[in-house]
Amino acid sequence: MRTISVLLALILASTAYAQQPTQINAYRYQVKKSVTASHGAVVSAHPLASQAGLQMLQQGGNAVDAAIATQLALAVVYPAAGNLGGGGFLVAHLKNGKDLAIDYREKAPAAASRDMYIDASGNANTKLSQDGHLASGVPGTVAGIFASLPYAKLTIQQLIAPAIMLAEKGFAITEKEAAGLNATQELFSKLNTQPNAFVRKKPWKTGDTLLQKDLAATLKRISTNGRAGFYEGETAALIIAEMKRGKGLITAADLKTYEAKERPAVSFYYKKYRIVTMPLPSSGGIALQQMMGMVEKYPLAAWGFHSVNAMQLMIEAERRAYADRAQYLGDPDFVKVPVKQLTSPEYLHTRMEDYDPHRAGSSKQTGAGTVYYESDETTHLSVMDSEGNAVSVTTTLNGGYGSKVVVGGAGFFLNNEMDDFSVKPGVPNMYGLVGTEANAVAPGKRMLSSMTPTIVLKKEKPYIVAGTPGGSTIITSVFQTLLNIIEFNLPTQQAVDAPKFHHQWLPDQVDVEEDFDEMPLQYLKEKGYKIVRRGAIGRTEVIKVNSKGQLEAAGDKRGDDSAAGY
Ligand code: GLY
Repeated sequence: MRTISVLLALILASTAYAQQPTQINAYRYQVKKSVTASHGAVVSAHPLASQAGLQMLQQGGNAVDAAIATQLALAVVYPAAGNLGGGGFLVAHLKNGKDLAIDYREKAPAAASRDMYIDASGNANTKLSQDGHLASGVPGTVAGIFASLPYAKLTIQQLIAPAIMLAEKGFAITEKEAAGLNATQELFSKLNTQPNAFVRKKPWKTGDTLLQKDLAATLKRISTNGRAGFYEGETAALIIAEMKRGKGLITAADLKTYEAKERPAVSFYYKKYRIVTMPLPSSGGIALQQMMGMVEKYPLAAWGFHSVNAMQLMIEAERRAYADRAQYLGDPDFVKVPVKQLTSPEYLHTRMEDYDPHRAGSSKQTGAGTVYYESDETTHLSVMDSEGNAVSVTTTLNGGYGSKVVVGGAGFFLNNEMDDFSVKPGVPNMYGLVGTEANAVAPGKRMLSSMTPTIVLKKEKPYIVAGTPGGSTIITSVFQTLLNIIEFNLPTQQAVDAPKFHHQWLPDQVDVEEDFDEMPLQYLKEKGYKIVRRGAIGRTEVIKVNSKGQLEAAGDKRGDDSAAGY
């Protein structure tokens, strides 16, 4: 009898153990690049954030729960890009077949104006749109989380708990985070007058504890009061006080009236796959649809991965899509964008009519197409669950640590997203992107984004979830990663890690990562392309369903990106 009860106790204990959610140890954690899982998987820019998402899946939450918890944890453990003071986009394909796109992009404050970054001599002062209080749009992230919540199963208190714990008790920082904090100390000190968790006299080093008591208090106010815990009350008062100290524009009314918006997702077919991605105010979905439409009829798979033919075709598609982006795209609530025409097969066919495989194209000759009017820092996370839900979220402060302004007493960085507007037609932003009137600053307007959270469906079931940070290179990174899998048949991790190339119309050059093979580049140079080697392009997080129905999660080699699953 005793033997049986001991056995029973052991069986019960092992069952209970199997259902125990992963425990987060903020001081002992590991980056895991590749994880194969049967039930659910999360991949994000930080192992602790991926674990927070995994915990929610194991507690009975779905992919939306995991995405919310991961985002909130990223706001703590990845302050360079994870955020409460920024904005983002969520794209999901839900088990009931619904495509979902939630826009929580920042908005220009009501007091913003078209020429607010133009000085007396008529020159654009991009310092003001990039650093300090005037660079910040009205944050959207917390509104986005509450707009996503109806699709989740757990409570906000459950979803925010890991973030509160990590902020309040601290966590050990990685080598990359230490380097990022050290490199930005001077700007932090220059732009902040209040004490904060990020500035200290001695340099940060790997394994140091980052304690964020102010941020923990802000998270608790959100846990208790919902979105009003951020957009009203004490947190709002702290933001307004910070704006007053730094002569910023965000007011109590800007905060109170900010709203996330559900928008119809961009959905299109590439061969047998249906691709669901983000609409305006992101340029990502439209540009991705244009580029994929421009290359679809060519034999990419036969040409092969990083073959000169495939690369040249993709570069020319990128050139044309980015020229259109600069000319036509902006916040659809403010400008009329001819989306239907820009993405129609006829238009895309016409765009490629002057494509010449024997020589480099030219951005002087290839501007935006003719349309007749009928009338490094962002972060991405991908999640799939066992119920058939897939979620793709890209969220941003824009530059690393955003405006570098920490809201005094509230503990989070504000974005510098105003620089994603075209501050003056033709003047490049921090990513070298140019724009026109369509993306000019206006009160309450959302600045154009490149963020491209994307889901690929095969037979209407989630097949790939993908997305990346990287400013202007986001769209080309997603484009190449999808083709790496769909056309070039690369294993998931290789598809993510493969060196990337990028063309954005202006400047007329092909950027390639340092580790790109020299051979195809030599041939491209002979055809007349200017090749420029540069640092990392993107940090792509992918989950792909393999032929056995398992989830293959791949975190990008380029950062601390880490996968988790069960
Ligand atoms: N801040 C980068 C983007 O939204 O495109």
